[in-house]
Amino acid sequence: MDIRLDGQHILVTGASRGIGRAIAEQLYASGATLSLTYRQHKSAADTLTADWLPHRYRWYAIDFSDPAEAYGLVAQATADQGPIHTVVNNAGVASSVSIDASQEEWLEGWHHTFAVNVHAPAAITHAVLPHFQEQGQGRFINISSRAAFRGDTPDYMAYAASKGAVVALTRSIARGFGKKGVKAFTIAPGFTRTEMAQDFIDSYGEDYVTRDLALAEMTTPQDIAPLITLLASGLADHATGGTFDINAGSYVH
Ligand SMILES: NC(=O)c1ccc[n+]([C@@H]2O[C@H](COP(=O)([O-])OP(=O)(O)OC[C@H]3O[C@@H](n4cnc5c(N)ncnc54)[C@H](OP(=O)(O)O)[C@@H]3O)[C@@H](O)[C@H]2O)c1
Repeated sequence: MDIRLDGQHILVTGASRGIGRAIAEQLYASGATLSLTYRQHKSAADTLTADWLPHRYRWYAIDFSDPAEAYGLVAQATADQGPIHTVVNNAGVASSVSIDASQEEWLEGWHHTFAVNVHAPAAITHAVLPHFQEQGQGRFINISSRAAFRGDTPDYMAYAASKGAVVALTRSIARGFGKKGVKAFTIAPGFTRTEMAQDFIDSYGEDYVTRDLALAEMTTPQDIAPLITLLASGLADHATGGTFDINAGSYVH
């Protein structure tokens, strides 16, 4: 199956590093035109697109701790490169919030985690849905986590809860807007070799991350990207509302 995405305009958030970077790389190779975001690692962003055709991508510097930035992003991306066909809500944070934290730290940790992981994708959804309905088509591919289903360590309760919200958001879009041509899919990765996972490894050790795996190696961002390309192509539209586990067999539910 040769999947081509020529003529598709795809927005990928958090594309400078990790999973989002691998997703962007493969979507570009499949012919898509991309709107990409980073927060602060501009040089990492620049290395990704150094050899790309300038008319097939744009970078936007966005900090989703202010979810309202999502509206300007969608407006600008549409003005720059035309109607968006698919959104990949990938940018995320996994902040540790200890149960021993002060009231202020606890609330701030939850607030920040939900702003970036839930409220920003929700704002992008709100900004994009009218266009998708007008076009009679559009796809959301939202990156949740195994943690949404399995739960997480006490320090990462806010993270797990935020990823559960992403699943509910995605399913609600699929149920509510399917007849208008809008599809929505959840990707639920397990530990994937990125800087975010490295923070867990630094805290809990490599064995904590690998001992549950059914496969011999930890998942890499390149193991996630092909499924996103398939979903963006429309070939799997009847899986709308579905959740795709990519966790090396570490949690099957
Ligand atoms: N890695 C895992 O084990 C794993 C497992 C399950 C789910 N996930 C999910 O997969 C997604 C990608 O994770 P990853 O491991 O690739 O993370 P990562 O390597 O830490 O990269 C995070 C990306 O999000 C951007 N970002 C971070 N905070 C942001 C903010 N406040 N505003 C806007 N952009 C921001 C970063 O931009 P800068 O480069 O500019 O900082 C970067 O592009 C996340 O939603 C994560 O929850 C990851």
